[in-house]
Amino acid sequence: MKNTDSYSHLRGESLYIDDLNTQQGCLFGLVFDAPLAHAKILELDYAKAETIDGVVKIFTYQDIPGQNQIGGIIQDEPLLAENDIHYWGQPIAFIVAKSDAIAKKARQLISLKTEALPVITTATEAFKKNEFVCAPRSFKMGNTVNAFKTCDYIFEADTFSNGQEHLYLETQGAYAECGENSKIKVTASTQGPTQVQKAIAKVLGIGMHQIEVDVIRLGGGFGGKEDQASAWAALVALATNHLHKPVKLVLNRHDDMRMTGKRHPYESTFKIGLTKDLKIQAFEATFLQNAGAAADLSPAIAERTLFHATNAYFIKNVYTKVLSCKTNLPPNTAFRGFGGPQGMFVIESAIAKAAEMLNIPAYKIQEANLLQENDAFSYGQIATQVEAKNTWQTAVKDFDFEKEVKLVAQFNSHNDALKKGISVMPICFGISFTNTPMNQASALVHIYQDGSIGFSTGAIEMGQGVNTKLKQIVAQTFGLSLNKVLVETTNTTRVANTSPSAASSTADLNGKALQIACITLKNRLSVIAKAELNTTDKAIYFKDQAVYNLQNKESIAWETLIQTAFLKRISLTEQAYYVTPIINFDKTAEKGQPFAYHVYGTAISTVTVDCLRGNYAIDSVKIIHDFGKSMNLDIDMGQVEGALAQGIGWMTSEELVYDKNGRLLSNALSTYKVPDVYAMPKIVVVKALESEGNEMALLKSKAVGEPPLMYGIGTYFAIQNAIKAFNKNYCLKFDAPLTPQKVLKNLYNAFKNNS
Ligand code: MTE
Ligand code: HPA
Ligand code: MOS
Repeated sequence: MKNTDSYSHLRGESLYIDDLNTQQGCLFGLVFDAPLAHAKILELDYAKAETIDGVVKIFTYQDIPGQNQIGGIIQDEPLLAENDIHYWGQPIAFIVAKSDAIAKKARQLISLKTEALPVITTATEAFKKNEFVCAPRSFKMGNTVNAFKTCDYIFEADTFSNGQEHLYLETQGAYAECGENSKIKVTASTQGPTQVQKAIAKVLGIGMHQIEVDVIRLGGGFGGKEDQASAWAALVALATNHLHKPVKLVLNRHDDMRMTGKRHPYESTFKIGLTKDLKIQAFEATFLQNAGAAADLSPAIAERTLFHATNAYFIKNVYTKVLSCKTNLPPNTAFRGFGGPQGMFVIESAIAKAAEMLNIPAYKIQEANLLQENDAFSYGQIATQVEAKNTWQTAVKDFDFEKEVKLVAQFNSHNDALKKGISVMPICFGISFTNTPMNQASALVHIYQDGSIGFSTGAIEMGQGVNTKLKQIVAQTFGLSLNKVLVETTNTTRVANTSPSAASSTADLNGKALQIACITLKNRLSVIAKAELNTTDKAIYFKDQAVYNLQNKESIAWETLIQTAFLKRISLTEQAYYVTPIINFDKTAEKGQPFAYHVYGTAISTVTVDCLRGNYAIDSVKIIHDFGKSMNLDIDMGQVEGALAQGIGWMTSEELVYDKNGRLLSNALSTYKVPDVYAMPKIVVVKALESEGNEMALLKSKAVGEPPLMYGIGTYFAIQNAIKAFNKNYCLKFDAPLTPQKVLKNLYNAFKNNS
């Protein structure tokens, strides 16, 4: 089944915030934000701006009737700055005017007097000054100190992986209207409608029941709207509440890039110890996470870094530690992989370093340490249904890895100006919100009297295809064609207390709740069908818009069944609730079973580096991916390809640059290079691993949203290998992204290994 949105997407008819037909008298919002990264506010003067014709009101924190607070995990983030500024781009005032153009004019007339304070932009600086957003966390298994004593080789190094701009096509935005009795309806571009509802209620000092949040779809979220969609929704709600007028705010690209947090940059160090047989005996890592100026989701992201710090490998002795460092950057936030990629980059760096020093290919070490059935992760979960070796070996065999390695060597021996590099990247990613209570969902299904069905869940469609998967569940359960089934908007008055659509778990959680609701309805209808067809439970079969008696092939049309049920006063509506069973995690012991299951895969990447210019092409990325029993391979393949592109971008070309004053220099698409069609590998092959799937996945179809992003890490190491083929004196550097500028320097850098 193709994506249900493709028809309206192709015709340009899909609705985003900026496409909404606003109510008459709609006003337009614009944010006035901090023009420096750390300061005391001495004076904010907007009197002149407010006198412009068409400016309705300028809001500051003083106009907030409830609490000036939108922090999710930790209450440390004001909606509008009060007396101090903590990052460049921090919202200070909200201008509401009759048009965007008027609001822009007003923004230029606001004057701000400040006293500048010292700015911290890097995690290391914050670490040295003891600035953190929360307490450190560490995972421990075995005893690394003792284990290092038994190692034949020990290597240490520093690593850096930069942040990443989400670049959702639809920027952040929200639209608010007022109803009766101070009720407010907000249509928002958010992955977390309940968080938005909660934040607005708090800011306005009213109950959550007075706020209705509706989400049609997002033009991409990628984690950037899991926590960071609240501010814009709260601002329009604040204005609507005060002015009793509809208000819309859609950030322009510049404002969005400047004001919102991104993937966290990490500065990390590792120590890896191996024995002569290449078994990794001990691994230690310290991760300094650049959290930005407020906690946002940083504590949860930091935790997931620890969960994925050993990637798809079994290491007996592990000690990993993460510190969420408070800096003067916009609060960094969720981004596809949620700290996992940053963790995996470090273990892969450690393995690459060991391989370099031992003068062997990294894949020898990787292969020797792959996770096996019943191995323990450092957080106590025992690995089951492990596909690490299976995906590795299938990739090696199906993609003829040995031949590929020979071809690369041959090519390199015949070429001076061009060098090829190859790498293997296994992945292992845990599925579930690591915060156990978040793993819950509900669904509401209405069968209307004509037999058509409308349903709602907490799932947000952001391009990942969850609505299509949900429709499949309904249509399959009742044996109906898809045109009988409609997925409604995600709305807090229909489905309440939802977890955000995130952690790759949206289809698993919401789909399972939906499945339960549909099965309950089906059982209820079966009783009627059984009586009408005069048969037994076992003989009842729902198919092709009818219910059959398998014994004599007699049937009753679906529509007739529904009419009969209605006349018999049988409820045609069902609400259902699902929680992931078994999972748990004890944050004091730092042990438990946080994940329903893991997703595995292996990618082989080959690149060609132009050793005169420093630029490179990715020749191919060939992937064996563990989809379980994919319920929609077209959509799932799209997820793998999209995630791969995003992973490659993060590792190679997307370079966030802040100056030492905390100003984002890479603040537009002219200075921030996302991969385009030319940057993609010339060949992308994605093959599904033959595997059983997992009961906790919807229809045994494993979650797919985030895991494949980490295949992109493979390209980083393939490029390193190509550089090494050109410059024997090159000492591997773990400093992502590996932009052409850096490649060029590395090609001609003559430093010898000194560790
Ligand atoms: N794919 C598209 N097209 N757009 C998105 O915003 N977000 C990613 C991934 N794939 C995203 C996407 C992220 S960060 C997550 S967590 C998952 O989709 C969320 O959806 P799922 O739980 O249905 O996989
Ligand atoms: N993944 C994604 N989003 C989250 C998580 C997680 O594990 N926990 C809280 N928000
Ligand atoms: Mo995805 S980073 O969990 O929204």
